[in-house]
Amino acid sequence: MKEVSIESSAVIYDSYESFDEDTLQLFEAAHQACKRAYAPYSKFFVGASVRLANGQIVSGNNQENAVYPCGLCAERVALFQASSLYPDVAVKAIAVTIDYERVAVEDIAFPCGSCRQVIMEYEQKFPNSIDLYMLGKNEQVVYLESVKQLLPFAFTGDLLK
Ligand code: THU
Repeated sequence: MKEVSIESSAVIYDSYESFDEDTLQLFEAAHQACKRAYAPYSKFFVGASVRLANGQIVSGNNQENAVYPCGLCAERVALFQASSLYPDVAVKAIAVTIDYERVAVEDIAFPCGSCRQVIMEYEQKFPNSIDLYMLGKNEQVVYLESVKQLLPFAFTGDLLK
């Protein structure tokens, strides 16, 4: 018998000042995307933007439905759109934010379990780690160097080969 332990680590920033222009552009795209979210039921408006290896930014937001399970999170809308437009281009980074002007929360939202699994898929596909930026209020940022930090012991396509 042996015990395996996995540690996670994140870097927390209090302002945007140390980020380069490309990353700030990604943040801005996520901030814009959450304004267009379709979330009439939860009123929890989320935006996500993906940076691809070809420099393109592709954004998405949560899309809800009267039949609740038919809806989809912002992260998956953005990633599926990116993959459908550029199937052969690696995903380098994703930024996620809540519309703090319309959602009365103070905390930073982390991707849900299903979105973690989908981010993992695109890390495995190319393969490369995807920078994850969770944007909070007042320029707070939680940065993770890979979704492995959020999804240890993951199920991946390797098992299906
Ligand atoms: N939501 C996202 O868009 N991303 C997440 O990672 C968590 C939750 C959305 C789904 C739903 O439209 C609303 O937020 C409330 O759960």
